[in-house]
Amino acid sequence: MKKVSATLTDSFGREHNYLRISLTEKCNLRCTYCMPENGVLLSPQSQLMTANEVFHIAALFVQNGVDKIRLTGGEPLLRKDFSEILTSLSTLPVKLSITTNAILVDRYIETFKSCGLKDINVSLDTLNTTKFDAITKRDQFSKAMSNIELLIQEGFMVKLNVVLMKGFNDDEIIDFINYTRDKPINVRFIEFMPFDGNNWDKSKLVTFDEVLTAVNVHYAEVGVESIPNEKNFTARNYKIKNYKGSFGIISTVTNPFCDACNRIRLTANGKLKNCLFSTGETPLLETFRDGKSIEGLIQHALHQKKAVRAGMTELEDFENLENHHNRSMITIGG
Ligand code: 5AD
Ligand code: SF4
Repeated sequence: MKKVSATLTDSFGREHNYLRISLTEKCNLRCTYCMPENGVLLSPQSQLMTANEVFHIAALFVQNGVDKIRLTGGEPLLRKDFSEILTSLSTLPVKLSITTNAILVDRYIETFKSCGLKDINVSLDTLNTTKFDAITKRDQFSKAMSNIELLIQEGFMVKLNVVLMKGFNDDEIIDFINYTRDKPINVRFIEFMPFDGNNWDKSKLVTFDEVLTAVNVHYAEVGVESIPNEKNFTARNYKIKNYKGSFGIISTVTNPFCDACNRIRLTANGKLKNCLFSTGETPLLETFRDGKSIEGLIQHALHQKKAVRAGMTELEDFENLENHHNRSMITIGG
């Protein structure tokens, strides 16, 4: 790994080499846990980073030690200049990845390949078409599924992000794991997290322990194997014996993994978030547009970063969020 500069090292000594860039606040789906029912106030176009600004700001982070960039949204493939952005970023010495809902991926297979993008995370919360329509408020299940199959066929490393919600899809845990039997994919069960406007409630949470218990009971005879953690892991990974794929559990709520956090986020309107849960944001774009250095701002933001979840160390902190206003997930970008 390249040396991470002091600018990207926080006061706990964590080195931030992983930048997540949101390219747009818009999405072609309306997942209830992400997009508030009444929509969100979109930033005026003039306040969003242009393709050129994305590249130059990203390049600055890369000079400071970032070696992994993930493009998120909203839905990043909705950007008309997505290919231009990806092509320019592919000239930087970084590992590129993307999180998408897969609806538009068939249009971008060749761009992904020519830019060396191999890792694709796809949001998919159900394998049932009726439930898909209910959670996304759009009738696009077959498009999502055929594009996921296409990505697998084309040899991309696909991870499926499944946000678990009690009473909605907790009965599909085994179906999702069975989907990994013949497919070299990784299914990641994500604990439902609270963000502005998503009606989070502890009773809707399906915990890490609950998932693992359900899996251990179901596959007791076949065998559940645990896979060693990756560095800076977010998912604890497992596989069913002899299955081609694997699955993981991301337990941000019941068991956060902040000790080894290496992630920072840049929103589509050019603000730096030092943590997914941070209420404060550091505007970089205006200063950048004025032609001034933004490194001091970045360093300051990093120094403000708290040890755990923007200071919400306990699960109980999620139950009283009145004093903790965050953006909606749609405008943060996974
Ligand atoms: N809780 C957990 N995960 C979420 N995501 C979006 N909103 C939430 C939430 N409230 C995840 C989705 C998506 C990724 C970008 O973020 O799985 O794939
Ligand atoms: Fe990093 Fe914040 Fe996520 Fe913890 S909650 S892993 S500090 S982004």
